Amino acid sequence: MPAPPALRRNLDRRATAILAALPPDLHDAARAAALDHIRAQRARSGPESKPWICNRQSCDGAAHGPYDYSHARTAQRPPVIDHFIWLILSGRGWGKTRTGSETLADRVRAKPFAPDGAPTEWAIVAETFGDARSICVEGPSGLLRVFDRQKIPYRYNKSNWQIRLPDGQVIHMLGADDADVGRGLNLSGAWLDETAKWRHARASWIEGLAPALRIGTPQVIVTTTPKPSSLLKDWIGRTDGSVIVTRGSTFDNAANLSPTALEELRKRYEGTRLGRQELYGEYLDDNPGALWTRANIDANRRAARQLPELVRVVVAIDPAGTAHEDSDMTGIVVAGVDASGHYWVLDDLTLRASPDGWARAAVDAYRAHRADRIVAEVNFGADMVEATIRHVDRNVPYTAVHASRGKKIRAEPVSALYEQGRVHHLGGLPALEDEMISWTPDADWSPNRVDALCWAITDLANMSGINVFMSGLLASTPDTQTVTERTSLGINDFLQLKGPP
Ligand SMILES: Nc1ncnc2c1ncn2[C@@H]1O[C@H](COP(=O)(O)OP(=O)(O)OP(=O)(O)O)[C@@H](O)[C@H]1O
Ligand SMILES: [Mg+2]
Repeated sequence: MPAPPALRRNLDRRATAILAALPPDLHDAARAAALDHIRAQRARSGPESKPWICNRQSCDGAAHGPYDYSHARTAQRPPVIDHFIWLILSGRGWGKTRTGSETLADRVRAKPFAPDGAPTEWAIVAETFGDARSICVEGPSGLLRVFDRQKIPYRYNKSNWQIRLPDGQVIHMLGADDADVGRGLNLSGAWLDETAKWRHARASWIEGLAPALRIGTPQVIVTTTPKPSSLLKDWIGRTDGSVIVTRGSTFDNAANLSPTALEELRKRYEGTRLGRQELYGEYLDDNPGALWTRANIDANRRAARQLPELVRVVVAIDPAGTAHEDSDMTGIVVAGVDASGHYWVLDDLTLRASPDGWARAAVDAYRAHRADRIVAEVNFGADMVEATIRHVDRNVPYTAVHASRGKKIRAEPVSALYEQGRVHHLGGLPALEDEMISWTPDADWSPNRVDALCWAITDLANMSGINVFMSGLLASTPDTQTVTERTSLGINDFLQLKGPP
């Protein structure tokens, strides 16, 4: 005779608390016990429950035996070996989101309590909060459908966007449009969807999420169509076993996609370079429409010891349009030019800050790099930008630039200089480089770091006199700008305006 529900719940809690308290060197045993725990929970869920993972060693996901419905293919099962991140890189419609929600549901139920006995906390993070809600939680492949299919009770609290399970586990729904996403949480695990599209993927991971994953032995599921991103590149390149990569193509999930949708995808992408990414989940490390390539940036990268004497150094700022602490990022890039007309990108200090915060960062950079000038785009208010900088340093040489033509026109000559192998990044500038290889001129977002970079290089080219020797490229496509010199030219400017000796 089955035990009464209250007793079962109590036994369940105690078994899980014991599991959680096991020392780390008993991982294998703990995992086996955790799996037993999941199986036992499933068995109790009743005959109508539809488990995701069947009892076969490997499976193509088609209905069989008691699993008389479509379920997980082998590639959609979590790795059985120890790992921190399970990274699924696959084509559109492979079943990434479904795999994320099924896996998270299993993990949350397998680990109801933290080692201190408190209910565990989890996070679902999508590109925006709206996506977390409409795709990862409420969508057809989302978590609530999984709970419903498996007859798992839950409470969905829309006032604080949390989902709570009967043992007290909490699942937070978050958007990575906030670079600080996850800060302050105490997570036992997370599911990150479409990470390659996140605006500040690296910062969100390093500053927000990774430090929050600190309870027990946390595990993360990442489900994304791969796009160029230094964070993905780092994860893919890890050789310490902490990241397990699963790849797959759209066609692996053909049985669960409508033939019309499949045909559409095939027509659109088959045989194209983008198709390798969108259909086959291949990591291309380059965005076909972008103005820069990773290969070019890598080939021209230089170490600090290779840095020659620079004849002019500027700090360029692309101020955020609004003046709140939580407004857009302010791009700040430091670059210089040497006597042979090669450009050196020295630092990317882009930050999210109040006007006083970014002005201080820019003036600090001006001093630290002994720069000749600060250059700032003033489309959002020339007086405000100058006043803000002057408030920090009254005497800093300053040039206001005004963008009167599109970003593409501004960026193309700079991209051409890269193609000529004349721009060198000093060490790695991963966030800037991500933006350079992912931003396309038709994108609906503004690349603050790239903007600052373009202002810096354009100023250096226009002011150094070195461009006299260039193929007319920059001279014939002068930016755009209404340059207003706010201070008299410095001695450096004077020497360089004469042109090279
Ligand atoms: N093993 C499976 N058994 C049954 N249905 C599945 C399976 N895998 C995925 N599906 C279904 O296939 C459809 C597409 O899955 P999903 O939304 O997870 O794909 P995706 O890879 O996240 O797509 P996108 O690239 O558009 O984000 C959904 O209806 C999902 O429920
Ligand atoms: Mg998806």
